[in-house]
Amino acid sequence: MKKMRLLLCLVLFATQIHAQDQKMNAFITALMAKMTVEEKIGQLNLITPGSGILTGSVVSTDVEGKIKSGKVGGLFGVIGAEKVKQAQDISMKESRLKIPLLFGSDVIHGHKTTFPIPIGVSCTWDTALIRQSAIIAAAEATADGLNWAFSPMVDVARDPRWGRVSEGSGEDPFLGSQIAIAMVKGYQGASLADKQTLLACVKHFALYGAAEGGRDYNTVDMSKIKMYNEYLAPYKAAVDAGVATIMSSFNDVDGVPATGNKWLLTDLLKKDWKFNGMVVSDYTSVNEMVNHRMGNLQEVSAQSIKAGLDMDMVGEGFLTTLKKSLDEKKITMLDIDRACRKVLEAKYKVGLFDDPYRYIDAARGAKEVLSADKRAFSRKIAGQSFVLLKNEKQILPLKKTQKIALIGPLANDKNNMLGTWAVSADPQLSIPVLMGMQQQSNATSIVYAKGANITDDTTLAKKVNVFGLRVDIDKRTPDAMLQEALSTANASDVVVAVLGEASEMSGEAASRSDITLPASQIKLLNALYTTGKPVVVVLMSGRPLVLTNMIEGATAVLHVWHAGIEAGNAIADVLFGEVNPSGKLSMTFPYSVGQIPVYYSQKTTGRPMDQNNKFSTKYLDIPNEPLFPFGFGLSYTQFAYSDVKLSSNKISKSESITASVTLTNKGQYDGAEVVQLYIEDKVRSITPSAKELKGFQKVNLKAGESKTITFKLTEEMLKFWNADIKFVSESGDFNLLIGGNSRDLQSVPFRLL
Ligand code: NOJ
Repeated sequence: MKKMRLLLCLVLFATQIHAQDQKMNAFITALMAKMTVEEKIGQLNLITPGSGILTGSVVSTDVEGKIKSGKVGGLFGVIGAEKVKQAQDISMKESRLKIPLLFGSDVIHGHKTTFPIPIGVSCTWDTALIRQSAIIAAAEATADGLNWAFSPMVDVARDPRWGRVSEGSGEDPFLGSQIAIAMVKGYQGASLADKQTLLACVKHFALYGAAEGGRDYNTVDMSKIKMYNEYLAPYKAAVDAGVATIMSSFNDVDGVPATGNKWLLTDLLKKDWKFNGMVVSDYTSVNEMVNHRMGNLQEVSAQSIKAGLDMDMVGEGFLTTLKKSLDEKKITMLDIDRACRKVLEAKYKVGLFDDPYRYIDAARGAKEVLSADKRAFSRKIAGQSFVLLKNEKQILPLKKTQKIALIGPLANDKNNMLGTWAVSADPQLSIPVLMGMQQQSNATSIVYAKGANITDDTTLAKKVNVFGLRVDIDKRTPDAMLQEALSTANASDVVVAVLGEASEMSGEAASRSDITLPASQIKLLNALYTTGKPVVVVLMSGRPLVLTNMIEGATAVLHVWHAGIEAGNAIADVLFGEVNPSGKLSMTFPYSVGQIPVYYSQKTTGRPMDQNNKFSTKYLDIPNEPLFPFGFGLSYTQFAYSDVKLSSNKISKSESITASVTLTNKGQYDGAEVVQLYIEDKVRSITPSAKELKGFQKVNLKAGESKTITFKLTEEMLKFWNADIKFVSESGDFNLLIGGNSRDLQSVPFRLL
């Protein structure tokens, strides 16, 4: 009976969707019948008037004139509902067909209320919270006139030299997929017709995170087996979750730039995965195919539209050449119609044809933008994103009675709190650490000294300061700052050193070859260590850093990424123990740059590491192990795991089994632990990853409390892409691994029949 009812509901739902689709199709068909070829091509043009943060050297010209003549499908970089309205007015009042414009933006980690950067958010391992962050970002962005977010970025990334690791969810395809789903569902909600939701855009399709040498925009070369098993899952998860748009990446995939790659955009995405939304290029990535040596602008534009690209961001290759290609029969009217329909569908889905101004609502803007509840949420998610890497002598949490020396170039800084991609946010509204700590403690017990510049390197500072002052080189000499810091430290009970990267030392076009702390800060830290005072290092960065040369002297290390508008408050919450840290690394912290790529799932080799065997896989000068493994993170409390129990040690293709473990909070503080489940395949027809994350649960436990956690294990979880690119399982022996990080795990054998 129940099943029947469910089936009926599903049929009704499907019929409704079908009817809606039919209505949309009929509307768009009628509209397209009125459009000239030029107007159709105009819809494929996405440009920016040049405000906000530009990520390329090309800026669109004569934007107003182009809108009037129907040559623009959408805009981005227009900040604020008032400006959005002005632009929409031009289209609605002065263009022939009055087709409303899409308004996109890099809403990546919040809109004006900034949340921690995505890699930080991913360290919460809390998909409900992450989904909530997207819901809130969408509510604020739509109240500010926007209807399209260029997010989530789901590129699996295993090279921390690549600055854009800050924008993603780290190294693991399973964790990345769960976060991709949460973000898409958060942005798009149950219905795009809801004014509080917007079009999500999963990016960068595909493999952008695997740029050679970690150098941004660099080439990618990868076997299909690796692609399918280790890189594609998060994009696919986003597509299955119903993402409305997808952005092609700058890199090549199997020798063909993604933007013009028919296998990628049509065969895989549109045919295999059944994606039926819109595909947009990245910033001038059509034009950049000329540099990739694919041909001239006309040729690469034709190649891209034929490959399945629907919208051209900024470069206007489509706008300026597609008509010629049509006349010369290099492309067909079907290509243009397909792309145009996709753009119009996106507009239809967000209700722009019902009301082009539906996202422009001063009352909603006043209520939603930067509202107190949003700031409170930002503080909460920031506190969850911090990863405690070290805590000796239980120095943390700090006692409010202690005399604290707050030292470091990021300790009283507003400009770097928001992190990269805070395009619409105002850094002046952010809370620096000093302010956050003062608000929670007796102000007189905290004495601040800058101690050092983020870097003394003026050439680097110039590169980092492109979007505003991020590295502020002090007028005082480094030595004068150091002396001040030392006397401040000497007069304290404990030193809190707030160090790390400026926000624009990571992000787009911010690759680094040396990912240690800059020399100026290492010098400061070493000097602080000589005082003999306990030193708590609060580290900000947009990427995993190599901490090997600084970790030993530190009594505690709290990694806080770039934590967003409420950074200072959230950091104070954790330092003073109002919030117990529970973040777990979503990306390995290397021991040395020389190990990169280093990630937890790295395959075993034919000559596994053996210290006693010269001819085994290892370095002469460094260990194989990273400094901190994927999944790692401490708490102020301690968790104990019971033995793992399986309901059976055999699993069949039709019957699942369960694994259970009892977790006990043995310490003095309430806390949360992320229980992680990995699988190790003992024999496979292709070399498997050493282990693969297959499940996780974040569990809250009061001090002294225990809870039994259960995971369901199915045959589906044991599948992989084989040499024929078929998704299969293979009978045989496996280990199931459970623990609090990817290194320290219990292992229980089981067999797939
Ligand atoms: C280039 C970036 O790669 C992409 O992520 C971003 O959405 C666009 N620029 C638009 O700013």
